[in-house]
Amino acid sequence: MIKTLIIGAGGQIGTELVLELRKIKGNDTVIAADVKDYCPPLLVNGPYVKIDALDREGVRDYIISNEIKEVYLLAALLSATAEKNPDFAWKLNMEGLFTILDLAKEGHISKIFWPSSIAVFGPTTPMDNTPQHTIMEPTTVYGISKQAGERWCEYYFNKFNVDVRSIRYPGLISYKSFPGGGTTDYAVDIFYKAKAGKQFTCFLKEDTALPMMFMDDAINATIQLMEAPAENVKIRSAYNLGGISFTPKAISEAIQKVIPEFEIVYQPDFRQVIAESWPNSIDDSYAEKEWGWKHQFDLDTMVKVMLENIKVEH
Ligand code: SER
Repeated sequence: MIKTLIIGAGGQIGTELVLELRKIKGNDTVIAADVKDYCPPLLVNGPYVKIDALDREGVRDYIISNEIKEVYLLAALLSATAEKNPDFAWKLNMEGLFTILDLAKEGHISKIFWPSSIAVFGPTTPMDNTPQHTIMEPTTVYGISKQAGERWCEYYFNKFNVDVRSIRYPGLISYKSFPGGGTTDYAVDIFYKAKAGKQFTCFLKEDTALPMMFMDDAINATIQLMEAPAENVKIRSAYNLGGISFTPKAISEAIQKVIPEFEIVYQPDFRQVIAESWPNSIDDSYAEKEWGWKHQFDLDTMVKVMLENIKVEH
C-alpha cells in the first residue's frame, strides 16, 4: 500500500487532485497537507495534516516517519501574487522543491509530481502553437522560479535517478476550488459574475489569447503522467500541455450563448503585460506521443459545465 502526500492540497489543483486520487487509491492512503490549521471542508473524507512547505525539517520528519512514497508538491505563489512579493515567491517556489527532491535522492520517496506552467515562456518565445523545446526567457518571478525548477528536476533525474514528473499547466478552470493570484484567473471569475447576473470587468484586453484547460482534463493528465511507465516519460523538465486557447471576447461570447444578457467590460491592469508575454496556444504533441495525452473539453462544453455547477450566493 503506497502512501501519497499532496502538499498544497487546499489550493485550486490540490483540492480536485486529492478527491480524484482518493477515488483511485482509497481515502486512507492519500494524505492532504496544507499550511492551514484545519482540513478544507471538501477533503474531510480522508487524512489531513498541517504542513508548511518551507519547514524543511518538519516535512522531512513527516515523510520519513510515515513512509510516504509519492509526493505531489503543489504549494506555490502564482504569477500575479508573486510579482507583489518576489522574495517570498522565490523562497516558497524553490525551497520546498529542494526538500522533496533531496528526500527522493536519499531514497525515501520513489515518485514526485511538481507543477510547472506556461509562465516558463516569455516575450521572445514563438507565441502560436509554442513548441516543447524553444526559446524560454520568462519575465515574471513566477516564471523564473518555474523555469529554474524545471532545470533542477531534470538535473536530479539525470544525476541521481530521481523519478520526478511535471506538466506546464495552462490556465486552469474549475468550479470546486478557486484559483489564487494568477493571470488566468479571469477565466474563472467571469463565470461567477455571469451566473449572478452581473457585469464582468476583465483585467485583460478582449483579444488576449491564452492557453487554458478545464480542471478535469488537467487532473486526468496529471494522473496519466504519474501512472505512465517510467521509460515513457522521456521529458524530465516538464511537458507542454495545450487544451483550449481563447480570448476574453471568445469566452464571453460562449457564455452569451447560454446567458444572452451577460455583459463584459475591459479594464486591463498589470496582468495584461504578463499575459502578453505568454503563449497564445501550445503544442502538446510530446505528451500525446509519449504517454497518450488527449484533452476532452472544448470551450463550449467547459462553459456549459461551469455554468451548471458553480454556486453563487444571492
Ligand atoms: N495560472 C497561472 C497563473 O496565471 C499560470 O500557471 O499564474
